[in-house]
Amino acid sequence: MTGATTAHWLAEIEIADIVLVDIIEGMPQGKALDLQEAMPVIGKDVTITGSNEYSATTNSDIVVITAGLPRKPGMSRDDLLAANVEIVSTATQAAIRESPDAIFVVLSNPLDVMSYLVMKVGGIPSRRVIGQAGILDSARMRAFVGMELGISIENIHCYVLGGHGDEMVPLTHYSNVAGIPLDEILPKERLDAIVTRTRKGGGEIVSLLKTGSAYYAPAIAVTQMVEAILKDKHLIVPASAYLSGEYGLNNIFFGVPVQIGMKGVEKIIEYSLSDEEKEALKKSAAGVTENIALLKK
Ligand code: 2OP
Repeated sequence: MTGATTAHWLAEIEIADIVLVDIIEGMPQGKALDLQEAMPVIGKDVTITGSNEYSATTNSDIVVITAGLPRKPGMSRDDLLAANVEIVSTATQAAIRESPDAIFVVLSNPLDVMSYLVMKVGGIPSRRVIGQAGILDSARMRAFVGMELGISIENIHCYVLGGHGDEMVPLTHYSNVAGIPLDEILPKERLDAIVTRTRKGGGEIVSLLKTGSAYYAPAIAVTQMVEAILKDKHLIVPASAYLSGEYGLNNIFFGVPVQIGMKGVEKIIEYSLSDEEKEALKKSAAGVTENIALLKK
């Protein structure tokens, strides 16, 4: 669902021609044709094709990897690791053969580990692999703050860093409403509730849907990244990037503020954090590192 929904959002902004690839015969073709048939109504000149073969994707500028199983109720994202390693590896190897210069945007879970895997199995320079979770997690936090305060979502800016799991780190001081830090606006107990709901935001949707995980918000998050890359916007977003010493971390994909443009990751921005925030990031990173180590087994 995330792949097709990303195609839907991308087609609406008329930013690229799109190829949907899936192993299920007829499914990507059917979804692509359905979307193509929607274009006359919104007047967008976008070509959307579906295929079971990666040859249809030759010379893509961007490859979005959404392949893999989603969670079922009661599962953590980490529970998907074993099943998704093979699926994501196969998709990456096939895609990079066709588009050796592409930038890879990864959405499969467990997100940070899968981004690492894509870089490794694809032999792709780290700046050309970006995992998407930070825009999503921050958007969830923004939505919850908006519900709490009844203030336009346009005034609400939130930053969630760390691994895309229950130990992610919503930054309550950098997050703000029209420039006023969140921890100065909301009483501690309300803020704590929003932090907890943000951390469990993906699971909340899984437990409601029962048969899979979220796709509208994850897909629009990917869309924002694709647009920033294609338009070379030098946009700073929270996303999972490969770290070599930033935030005191090495050899890990981890959610941090990154500047993105046509070349992929241009810069990693280092916030100065409180001791508490640093400690929380360390805990989150330990979990991701543990799972990356499982890839090598
Ligand atoms: C989420 O948080 C699927 O991981 C994704 O909804």
